[in-house]
Amino acid sequence: MIFKKMISVFIIICFITLFFCDLTTAGGWDQCKGCHNGNLAPDAKELSNKYDTADKFVAAAKRSENSLMASIKRNEKLLREAAKDIGLK
Ligand code: HEC
Repeated sequence: MIFKKMISVFIIICFITLFFCDLTTAGGWDQCKGCHNGNLAPDAKELSNKYDTADKFVAAAKRSENSLMASIKRNEKLLREAAKDIGLK
């Protein structure tokens, strides 16, 4: 039956879309952990202990004088996502 086929195609498309949505939202902390590994820069655990709110965390990132943070500082959305990823509100 053509109708059943359409339903299964529709479901497959849904899964594919979900999958790609997941990939595009994989940003946030993933883009920080290369440097924030506890060696070069403080890691997620250390930062979430140090800053109790997302606002303080974002402000600290913007305050950073380190040149490695220069391009990151301008991306407020990314900073907010990262804050959420490490468990700050
Ligand atoms: C290219 C490397 C690099 C990347 C990528 C990076 N950082 Fe940093 N970040 C640093 C370095 C180096 C420091 C300075 C660490 C220090 O002073 O001990 C720093 C400092 C910070 C600070 C201030 C920490 C403190 O307590 O002084 C925050 C907050 C921060 N980064 C957040 C982020 C977030 C959020 C991301 C991802 C969106 C990110 N960083 C991505 C290298 C990086």
